[in-house]
Amino acid sequence: MPFVGYYNGEFIESNTTPVPIEERGHQFGDGVYEVVRVYGGRPFLLDWHLERMENSLRAIQIANPFDRHAWVELINEAVRRSGEPESTVYWQVTRGIAPRNHVFPSANSVVSLTVRPQPPAKPANDIEAGPADHPLPPLVAWPDERWSNAFVKSINLLPNVIAKEVAHRLHAQEAMLVREGTITECSGSNVWFVKHGELYTHPTNRYILPGITRRFVLDLARESGVPVHEQALQLSDLKDVDEVFVTSTTQEIQMIGEIVVPVSQEQALHHLPSDIPSSLVESKEEFKTLWKMSAAPTVGSKLKQKFSETVHRIQDGEVTLAVRN
Ligand SMILES: Cc1ncc(COP(=O)(O)O)c(C=O)c1O
Repeated sequence: MPFVGYYNGEFIESNTTPVPIEERGHQFGDGVYEVVRVYGGRPFLLDWHLERMENSLRAIQIANPFDRHAWVELINEAVRRSGEPESTVYWQVTRGIAPRNHVFPSANSVVSLTVRPQPPAKPANDIEAGPADHPLPPLVAWPDERWSNAFVKSINLLPNVIAKEVAHRLHAQEAMLVREGTITECSGSNVWFVKHGELYTHPTNRYILPGITRRFVLDLARESGVPVHEQALQLSDLKDVDEVFVTSTTQEIQMIGEIVVPVSQEQALHHLPSDIPSSLVESKEEFKTLWKMSAAPTVGSKLKQKFSETVHRIQDGEVTLAVRN
């Protein structure tokens, strides 16, 4: 049973439609979500995801319906039912079902969850051959139009959805979000830069989602002796950058080959997806290259290699994670 669904206390079939019309997640986007990757039948870094979910729920005052133990039981049961060793589990917690009114109701919060198969990521040696043989995907710089509490993993994803659609139409990996000149993160991942062998990524504050993969990669970098700066970069800093990659639960570590930016930022702010050209190739005049990879990534490929080795060692119980506060 590859697809597993769960809504408000019951496992459901994929073709059922359980969400009541007065569900606040559906009407207001009033809820939070999480996604965990399952490797070899075991949810990866689940404790870190549950900790982040608790922070998101607390930030918007939604009651957590389960304790840690009950969450682990539910997620493991869903994974067991799916029988898929390689999958992703998404879950949402909403403020519940109540007559439409912006004011918080006294309803119980509601949990929905799905498990879907996830194909394994490309192996690290895919990127070793360098850009000539394996062109790496671009990023497109795009205005960060999200609210100022991006640390909450809210189900309200409209600015992310639009930015990702732009990236998709341009055949880019991601939209790299820029808030008043500062690079924050991407529409669905954190972004990293390598300068002179040292790593740079935006600090964890309210303007980015504290990625679980980001946290894991920070540990891997420190273990590997790569100096790390949790420091934001400006678009203008890209001229000194040697490598770029993005990280997320579903993309793991993805190397980037080029960063493009709309020629007119002003124009980009008013672009709706219908105006976006269908690929970068077709839109040479509207986008200009800000950064292009000049050599095969060394720091990125080392971390990607270490990422997959460590995942397997953790899953095999050979190493436990030292949890940082
Ligand atoms: C906006 C945003 N930033 C960063 C990430 C990466 O977070 P994680 O590594 O926990 O998947 C995501 C993942 O969904 C995201 O949506």
